[in-house]
Amino acid sequence: MASSTQHYTHGQWTSRLVFVFAATGSAVGLGNIWKFPYMAGENGGSSFILIYLACVAFIALPILSAELLIGRHGKRSPVNVFRRFHRDYGTPAVWRFAGWLGVLAGFLILSYYSVIAGWVIAYVFQAGAGAFANATADSIASNFNGLVSDPERLTLWHTFFMILTVAVLMRGIHKGIERVVKYFMPLLLALILGLIFYNFFVGDMARTMNFMFSFDFGKVTGETVLMALGQAFFSLSLGMGAMMIYGSYLPDSAPLFGTASVVAFADTLVALLAGLMIFPLLFAFGMEPAQGVGLIFKTLPLAFSQMPGGVVFGTLFFFLLLIAAWTSALSLLEPIIAWAVEHLAWSRVKASVTAGAVAWLIGLGTVFSFNLWQDIKLWDKTLFDLLDYLTSNIMLPLGGLLVVLFVGWMLPGAAVRAEAGFRSERLYRLWRVVVRWIAPAAVVLILFHLLGWEIIRQMMN
Ligand code: PHE
Repeated sequence: MASSTQHYTHGQWTSRLVFVFAATGSAVGLGNIWKFPYMAGENGGSSFILIYLACVAFIALPILSAELLIGRHGKRSPVNVFRRFHRDYGTPAVWRFAGWLGVLAGFLILSYYSVIAGWVIAYVFQAGAGAFANATADSIASNFNGLVSDPERLTLWHTFFMILTVAVLMRGIHKGIERVVKYFMPLLLALILGLIFYNFFVGDMARTMNFMFSFDFGKVTGETVLMALGQAFFSLSLGMGAMMIYGSYLPDSAPLFGTASVVAFADTLVALLAGLMIFPLLFAFGMEPAQGVGLIFKTLPLAFSQMPGGVVFGTLFFFLLLIAAWTSALSLLEPIIAWAVEHLAWSRVKASVTAGAVAWLIGLGTVFSFNLWQDIKLWDKTLFDLLDYLTSNIMLPLGGLLVVLFVGWMLPGAAVRAEAGFRSERLYRLWRVVVRWIAPAAVVLILFHLLGWEIIRQMMN
């Protein structure tokens, strides 16, 4: 496909390692540390976790490699990549709507992601000012409630986070993202491990082990499975073009599936470690796992309030979490920015500022859904809940489904085989079967089966 590259100066990561850091930076974020523990807490702990692990291994990992494959093979933004395949291979032109679906999901996710990241910023300052020293579970909870019920403070921090995101995106992918992730992600991991170590002394590890790994399927419902699937997509940044655009910057020499496995493994590890960081504290202080979105904001400060050096560690922790959120946020807007630069010939600055402004505006809806609009509900969900449900549980699985179907059935087999670069023929065949049949069937089953039931249930009510 050399003939059509001359108009584009598509970037590339400096090395495979840099890609791994950037993709892990995209994957590891609020999804692992904020969302995974409260989802597990609300959906029965161990059964959710086991289903989650199965979703990652059998559905999300094959889809991740498929998504990277499309990106690296087409070397375009997620919308134009489908146009290019249409031109080069005659695949149907309508596939470009798969790209647009992803762009839309990116805006919607960033709009609320930025609000939650705003809470993290608020916590960096509070922890730094010593607000959690000698605090109690009650005072910490009421502090959190005070924050989310204040639309002005939320808007301020949401704005702040969006500016941070746009400021890096403006500069392009190299100077910003690469440098930040290389140093800060390992530090975040070290701090999480440190907190887990601390939990061995003050937390309730025995109960945590039982809660996270006892695998009691009594509480599993169809909804649990959909939640776990949605969480796997969200956590691996799948189904919206982020991995596609990052894959398009991946050097051709890197083995695709192996690289995808490293990213999926790292992401899953951080999620499990986040559980081991949160639950022992929660149980030791007699709190409920089903705390919802405030979970980490109500539990972690308890640890920091009592440990020696808690002010320093607390501040550092929320700061590193902010960085993790930031490297994820960048990947949420990169697809649309790449498209605007490529297709509309906009400058990166113009594209980044415009996209950030749109996401910011939508984000105000999430800000208000925690206070002024908290009683406005549709299907028993606030606007934030709806956005989260719609993106994680519907749009991302749908986007991922389109991605594997495209790789499995639309792209020429020879191109896929060469791009996937498996050394073992057997492994390739297995992967191919999963991509063509198993992953799509699983997503279809979970998604449409459950949505079908949900719609019927709503109609009966
Ligand atoms: N994976 C990120 C997280 O876990 C969120 C994200 C979703 C980023 C989709 C990009 C695309 O926090």
